[in-house]
Amino acid sequence: MRGVVLAGGSGTRLHPLTRITNKHLLPIYDRPMISYAIEALVMAGITEIMLVTGGTHAGEFLRLLGNGHDYGIDRLSYAYQDRPGGIAEALGLAERFADDEPVLVMLGDNIVEQTFRSTVESFTAQGSGARIILTEEEDPVHLRHLGVPEFDEARRVIRILEKPEEPPSHYAVTGIYCYSPDVFRIIGTLVPSGRGELEITDVNNWYVDQGSMEYDVLQGFWGDAGESIDAYYAVNDFVRQNGANKG
Ligand code: DAU
Repeated sequence: MRGVVLAGGSGTRLHPLTRITNKHLLPIYDRPMISYAIEALVMAGITEIMLVTGGTHAGEFLRLLGNGHDYGIDRLSYAYQDRPGGIAEALGLAERFADDEPVLVMLGDNIVEQTFRSTVESFTAQGSGARIILTEEEDPVHLRHLGVPEFDEARRVIRILEKPEEPPSHYAVTGIYCYSPDVFRIIGTLVPSGRGELEITDVNNWYVDQGSMEYDVLQGFWGDAGESIDAYYAVNDFVRQNGANKG
């Protein structure tokens, strides 16, 4: 399986900090934010990775990560997203890199306490479709800023709602997704949402409609450090006290 880490976007929710650098280069405790997603993929056994970024600070990622060998990466590729056209658009740039292999995608502002290696193993056994990682979240106010799954009685996902006013469950969709290689064909059929982006939730709902979406529930802490300045500091505090990416 190949890995794709997304670090484009405009980071407006962290302005003015993100006027002078890319959000994913801001510190989380003692390291740039992006280091955690890279480490998480390597810990999950993925050592062929593409980093997708954009904007005016793209060169800094090369300075930080180089050829990736210091991080345990065998092959590190880079892609440049011309404008923040959405998570699914950014993923689409990795089509040739994926070369018909399944992909694990991680948003560069997501941080996990525990490794998700078991999800990679389960998706390899699954062999097709998609697999997402959910996290339990009781706070409806927080859920309104995230993707939220709706379940049927058998606990299968029947729909994912993006930033719903009325969250249909107490789970959030994290920014960690496994896809079979047909994901790139699906991205090609998407139309931009109201905010002008190709939405990853539309990709996920395609698999839900096909009946080929599976999920795992993450153990331990999950944070989206780009959600707001308060979330950024909450993730910093957690990582400083507890660490991240534990085996
Ligand atoms: O973090 C989990 C959430 O991430 C999910 O619950 C949502 O379903 C999903 O839509 C996403 O929501 P966000 O509002 O957090 O997405 P955001 O626009 O902040 O983008 C997340 C990451 O994706 C960010 O680290 C950079 C990358 N990105 C984003 C855009 C819009 C790109 O690489 N290119 C882009 O054009």
